[in-house]
Amino acid sequence: MSKTSTNSKKTLLSGVKPTGKPHIGNYFGAMKQWVDLQNNPEFTGDKAQKFFMIADYHALNFIQNAAEMKQNIIDLALDYLAIGIDPKQSIIFKQSDISAHTELAWIFDTITTMPYLQRAHAYKDAEAKNKEISVGAFNYPMLMCADILLYDVDIVPVGQDQKQHVEYARDTAIKFNHIFGGEKDKDNNPTSPVFKLPEPMIMESVATVPGLDGRKMSKSYGNTIPLFASYDEIKKAVMSIVTDAGLGAVAADGTVSDGIPKNIYEIHKLIKPEAELKPLYEANKGKYKALKDALVEDLEAFIKPMRERRALLAQDNDLVMQVLADGASRARMQAEKRLAAAKQAVGVSF
Ligand code: ADP
Ligand code: TRP
Repeated sequence: MSKTSTNSKKTLLSGVKPTGKPHIGNYFGAMKQWVDLQNNPEFTGDKAQKFFMIADYHALNFIQNAAEMKQNIIDLALDYLAIGIDPKQSIIFKQSDISAHTELAWIFDTITTMPYLQRAHAYKDAEAKNKEISVGAFNYPMLMCADILLYDVDIVPVGQDQKQHVEYARDTAIKFNHIFGGEKDKDNNPTSPVFKLPEPMIMESVATVPGLDGRKMSKSYGNTIPLFASYDEIKKAVMSIVTDAGLGAVAADGTVSDGIPKNIYEIHKLIKPEAELKPLYEANKGKYKALKDALVEDLEAFIKPMRERRALLAQDNDLVMQVLADGASRARMQAEKRLAAAKQAVGVSF
């Protein structure tokens, strides 16, 4: 444990960008773990610190419309509450409320090289698509490093695609500690590191939830099942799941269909045990309409309680503002301590 660190409790932090309606890929890949961790006996109540952030400054790279941004932030806060994040046990806050995030990101920028950021998957993908990349998008991982390192985080529960970003946070902590950590021990490690090294936590079984077309489910592919979908939205989405032509059909690559539609099954198994699903799919080989109907009903049974809870929470106009104000004041206290330690370490404060 670092000398400068004041926090001895286990800490976890995660967040998503308020860029549109979350889908079941976000939920099973990341957000469900948040709730499971919060309710896990090891982390529940005040046994651990749990931060769930709305990454609005990250979202600014994608949403450049004030009304849309505001609505997305409120919606995402309601989503957090509706899935079961409890503001009494966890800190729900908005990134832009804590200016230490952007301030620390600047400090990290000064010890980070361009080639290192050019290796980021998100940057490489954008470049491969010939997208014009803003400085904010290029720098995205550095702001995320600050998000994590400000809170002495041990665990970052995220989906597979965020693993590299958490590794960047580890690398950056090591680099900063090495440059500014003051005295070194006999192995050349700093004796008083400023930043703690975080670990990603990824549920391998749901690391990448497939979308309606079999690619990764993603807002940007338009292949999602929204987490709070209405019955009609669920039905529309499920009916559009891409399947092969049915039992015995021969695909262009010569493979013969076994009548088990993978794209339907992979989504179905998120919400129903495979022991129950297997007989259903065996008994309905090639009957894709029947299997889709079954998936619609199972999704509705799974989504309905959360959808109703969300509708109830949305009736209280002050709730989100209160939760975010309370979350910001609790997060700020901790973030400012760590920023002060970093400013001292680099020599700009006395
Ligand atoms: P999107 O690709 O829909 O824009 P985000 O990038 O906002 O999703 O991701 C928010 C969180 O959800 C991240 O932790 C990410 O790893 C996780 N996530 C997103 N899509 C999936 C998916 N299809 N399967 C598993 N996890 C996912
Ligand atoms: N980059 C994450 C995503 O796209 C969101 C995020 C921002 C985040 N800061 C974070 C996740 C810190 C975990 C920890 O989903």
